[in-house]
Amino acid sequence: MKKHNVLIGITGGIAAYKIPNLCRLFIKNSYNVKIVMTENATNFVSTLTFEAIIRSKVYVNEFIEGSNESAIEHINLVDWADIIVIAPATANTIAKIAHGIGDNLLTSLMLVASNKTIFICPAMNTRMYLNPVTQQNIEILRKRSFFIIEPDEGELACGDVGPGRLKEVNDIFDLINKHVNALDNFKGIKFIITAGPTIEYIDPVRFISNRSSGKMGIALADYASLMGGEVLLIGHLLQSHGKLFNTIIIDKAIEMLELLKENVKKYDILIMAAAVADFKPKNVANEKIKKGEGLILELEENPDILKELSKLKNDRQVFVGFAAETSNSIENARKKLIEKNLDMIVLNNVLRQDIGFDSDYNEVTLIFKNNEILQIPKMKKSEIASIIVDKAIEIYKSKNV
Ligand SMILES: Cc1cc2nc3c(=O)[nH]c(=O)nc-3n(C[C@H](O)[C@H](O)[C@H](O)COP(=O)(O)O)c2cc1C
Repeated sequence: MKKHNVLIGITGGIAAYKIPNLCRLFIKNSYNVKIVMTENATNFVSTLTFEAIIRSKVYVNEFIEGSNESAIEHINLVDWADIIVIAPATANTIAKIAHGIGDNLLTSLMLVASNKTIFICPAMNTRMYLNPVTQQNIEILRKRSFFIIEPDEGELACGDVGPGRLKEVNDIFDLINKHVNALDNFKGIKFIITAGPTIEYIDPVRFISNRSSGKMGIALADYASLMGGEVLLIGHLLQSHGKLFNTIIIDKAIEMLELLKENVKKYDILIMAAAVADFKPKNVANEKIKKGEGLILELEENPDILKELSKLKNDRQVFVGFAAETSNSIENARKKLIEKNLDMIVLNNVLRQDIGFDSDYNEVTLIFKNNEILQIPKMKKSEIASIIVDKAIEIYKSKNV
């Protein structure tokens, strides 16, 4: 098996003390490791510590007197690397990378590394992290196809509680390692994923919709593309999302249906995470309806998208549906699974206030065609997404041996 080359960039944050363990994990798992530190990072952990672990030189300065080699070090290091991981990534370094500033070895090499697989692991004080300028800079990187390994929430070194704590190094390693190994597993597999609500117009300025935020569908698209799958995401309210995958914005259920009908044959795995409106106004007014005379809204049913698509499904494809039930959950979800010829259905309990709509967390039950049931306890939507996508891949592989 090829030994992958990972270049770890360490910047000046408190969490730098956790990175020796990350290096150990990579080395233990047969990765070749090189390290670049910013000057500020060396205030937190010395280069000596890392040199003892990786048994080679740690790079800090771009311009070392008397060395010809160092003049092009930033290019050599990028050529050597298969993957670049910046952990911890300070707000400062994230800002510099987002805006093309190359004032030290690490930021200079990031200017060269535009075609590399790059993971950024932000870690900082909660207020620093939530500051709109930091959020915008992270968004810029996401749009440039950097993989952002979001920080955890919890108590930080400064005593603040909130998001900003470096993701556990075991989790960082697992995610990156999974990405590297999954490339073979996911490569060439095409996902078509829907997310968020649909909106159904009453008149040119008003619509009816539902509380779906799209977070679950985006998490699914994020994970599938992180693992190397080719992803098309369709939905409403997705404008602010990055460019790791293609996105098509729609408003109405009927638009979503048409787009899916046109495209679904070209994809291997369909995941319908969108909360499609069941009903739409029977008549849409051409002009804004005036107030004063009251309004009785007559609704009619939207077409059942999954039922329509099931007519186009071939034996090699995997279809995954979502069910938001408030009663008789498992029984109803199973009925849907059979009626719509699905391979898996993800059952949400939409009555719980602490999870589901607009939350970063969810608790779901996966129900499979062979009657198997998998209860997933409350966890982050990103983690649930990885379980759903891994299961879908497993089913896809079993159908396409
Ligand atoms: C004790 C201490 C802890 C710090 N921790 C962090 C941190 O966790 N995250 C962060 O973004 N900045 C942190 N900073 C601020 C950065 O060190 C500072 O912005 C610095 O310029 C970053 O340089 P670099 O990005 O080149 O490594 C800390 C500063 C100090 C003095």
